[in-house]
Amino acid sequence: MSLMRKKSVQGMLAAAQTSRGLRKELSAFDLTMLGIGAIIGTGIFVLTGTGATIAGPGLVLSFVISAFACGFAAMCYAEFASMLPISGSTYTYAYATLGELIAWIIGWDLLLEYLLASSAVSVGWSGYFQSLLSGFGVTLPQALTAAAGSVPGKETLFNLPAFCIAMIITALLAFGIKESKRVNNIVVLIKVAVVVLFIAIGVWHVKPANWQPALPFGFSGVFHGAAIVFFSFIGFDAVTCAAEEVKNPAKDIPRGVIWSLVVCSILYVVVAAIMTGIVPYMNFAGVDHPVSLALQVAKLDWFAGFVDLGAILGMMTVILVMTYGQTRILFAMSRDGLLPKIFSEVNPKYGTPYKATWLIGTIIALLAGFVPLHTLAELVNIGTLAAFTLIALSVIVLRKREPDLPRKFVCPAVPTIPALAILCCGFLMTQLSLLTWTCFAAWLLIGLVVYFGYSRRNSLLHNPA
Ligand code: ALA
Repeated sequence: MSLMRKKSVQGMLAAAQTSRGLRKELSAFDLTMLGIGAIIGTGIFVLTGTGATIAGPGLVLSFVISAFACGFAAMCYAEFASMLPISGSTYTYAYATLGELIAWIIGWDLLLEYLLASSAVSVGWSGYFQSLLSGFGVTLPQALTAAAGSVPGKETLFNLPAFCIAMIITALLAFGIKESKRVNNIVVLIKVAVVVLFIAIGVWHVKPANWQPALPFGFSGVFHGAAIVFFSFIGFDAVTCAAEEVKNPAKDIPRGVIWSLVVCSILYVVVAAIMTGIVPYMNFAGVDHPVSLALQVAKLDWFAGFVDLGAILGMMTVILVMTYGQTRILFAMSRDGLLPKIFSEVNPKYGTPYKATWLIGTIIALLAGFVPLHTLAELVNIGTLAAFTLIALSVIVLRKREPDLPRKFVCPAVPTIPALAILCCGFLMTQLSLLTWTCFAAWLLIGLVVYFGYSRRNSLLHNPA
């Protein structure tokens, strides 16, 4: 039975209010910016090219399918967030609904999502950064350009730019949310401007003939593409991790989640249509800079440089929000006694979980330096989809168990919308490879060992005193 022990929602709210808290600095606008900061990044700047070679012009449909899956999940997130404005995202919500063990598994999934996504995007950033440097005639020593064995035929050892960017972002976060928020807001405006300009200029260079045939690889290509470009949407959930630093969480978090997702979905679908309209889809094979390629094909080289810069800045905010989310989930799990206390110590001067931020940031940076991009990226989607599925389930359970809890945001059409979220996310999971499933199973197994070896005994629910 102790595996099913649950926290009470009222008790969690009271504990969060009395604990030595994080600073409350963020508004609905800041949260939307935080969401867009996490969402638009490697997905649109790198993976659209990969997706186009898998789905052809049907990439537009792949984005629509992924957007719907995330939209259904976002509704579930928003309902929970409006009830439980507490650090820890889905982990916290599951603790109140499905019990400690399931909460632990979700938290463990989210650690995988945020940790590997931060590292993966750092590696993607490194590629664009090196390309920009080469525009100025600067090249790094080959050994320091990528992880060992990641570029066939090249002797590489360590991805120095990826390591450095992860450490710089870590420093920003460790020194305080206020500074991080300002940097984030400015950079998000720049990257959205770059994407909107790409749309406004690119639309005049579309050749509708490139959209034929629309589905060269049929619907299986479209679905496989959807499972890949799903990465592009990851990040809206990071908004909910900021719950304890929000001025008016019950109202602002649902707004932040939904607005950031709506804005990004519209931009993605339009960008995918324009890109496949400018460049024949097969020409994207093996291309790292698909958006720039589209501009070069349209003879807009001058603008391609701006896009490179926007991509570099854009990916930085993704790393920032992902690393931020990571430290806040650790914070929540540690406060509950499931992880060592170091992860929930708040530095009195900076008001941040300072030590945990440096520790996690260093791990992210080392992974980015030593592990190839494809290895990192493979696991991100499955961990996230699993977490989305469980949170949708939680919405249905809590509606039955606690029907009278005040919900400032009510997910429409329960249980239909959560059921659709479960179906869509489950379906996308089936599109991922066996290798990915195997690694995911191994990660869960390690999580269970930690839970039964440490967390279960140290849980505050086990030792209420
Ligand atoms: N959605 C984020 C990106 O595309 C993870 O970079």
